[in-house]
Amino acid sequence: MKKYSVAIVGATGLVGRTFIKVLQEQNFPISEIQFYASSQSIGTEIEFNSQMHKVVELKPETVKKFDFALFSAGGTISKIYAPLFAENGTIVIDNSSAWRMDEKVPLVVPEVNSEDLLWHKGIIANPNCSTIQMMLPLKPISDTFGLEQVIVSTYQSISGAGNKGLVQLDFESQNLVDYSFTKQIYSNAIFHPSDENYPMWSNEEIKMVNETRKILHLPELKVSVTCVRLPIRIGHSEAVYLILKKPFKISEIRELLGKQNNLIVEDNFPDGVYPTAAQTKDRDEVFVGRLRRDLANPNSIWMWVVANNIRKGAATNAVQIAQKMIEMKLV
Ligand SMILES: NC(=O)c1ccc[n+]([C@@H]2O[C@H](COP(=O)([O-])OP(=O)(O)OC[C@H]3O[C@@H](n4cnc5c(N)ncnc54)[C@H](OP(=O)(O)O)[C@@H]3O)[C@@H](O)[C@H]2O)c1
Repeated sequence: MKKYSVAIVGATGLVGRTFIKVLQEQNFPISEIQFYASSQSIGTEIEFNSQMHKVVELKPETVKKFDFALFSAGGTISKIYAPLFAENGTIVIDNSSAWRMDEKVPLVVPEVNSEDLLWHKGIIANPNCSTIQMMLPLKPISDTFGLEQVIVSTYQSISGAGNKGLVQLDFESQNLVDYSFTKQIYSNAIFHPSDENYPMWSNEEIKMVNETRKILHLPELKVSVTCVRLPIRIGHSEAVYLILKKPFKISEIRELLGKQNNLIVEDNFPDGVYPTAAQTKDRDEVFVGRLRRDLANPNSIWMWVVANNIRKGAATNAVQIAQKMIEMKLV
């Protein structure tokens, strides 16, 4: 079996560490691996497949060619370094928002739009965590019944803000002072920062609108979003309301979602069966439940969609993109 050289950029972060776990769990065929981080991590060693590897400081001089570079070091680093790796012939799969809306860059959830990988030019963007999990149920419903409008409210974990979010939550839970998130996060519900182009909206809300349209190839789709951060460590939940174009039965939707790869339907609310964020620990799948026709609008359906934001929302989706590219013989 062919093996591939892989670089992890941002290897010491929450997503970076999860890349390392997922690659090992999935037995990704690796010939060589290199871990990059900032100057702060010089001297750090990371174990991979029972061997210790020194972290390399990311600098223009340390960039070299790999088959894949998995990036999770923030947008500023991606803007500068993704093109440097790509021009060497490396396929960059980027977790930041730096390239997602670039017309020349595919934005991919493998179960939904892997055909977009065919036109990549070296950089592939991994969507936002909240967008990825919503795409798995939306795609088959959109294809079969047509989407008139999507209205979603998110209930997002603080690990979406990286290590610093978890550290801040732990700190506040002991002291309840010094709110580096502008508002207290402990025992609270807060919003993401304001978007630079749409200041009345948060940047997370605008990402979900734009990315949903791009992934589903529905540039005019009506998408309305409210994103909320909660003091949950891992796992994002979403209350998704869909207005559909064609009549539907709930049983048809349940059957359709049951056939979607990597989507698990847990839908028996009267008996207490529905997914929650806590159960997504170490899970790569997306979970959906509480399928119900809206009481006021019979052409609309509600659902509850849950996933691990660090795994399917970031690291797992990126590794699946690399696996899909191997399967499609694009590398
Ligand atoms: N957390 C999520 O749920 C999630 C989901 C989807 C996408 N993402 C995206 O993934 C990226 C990383 O998120 P995270 O949650 O893993 O953040 P994190 O825990 O704060 O980790 C950041 C990583 O970036 C590295 N880094 C920072 N500055 C660097 C520099 N100048 N040169 C090289 N490496 C540098 C850090 O290295 P040092 O340790 O050396 O500082 C660390 O490895 C972000 O773009 C984020 O938007 C996160």
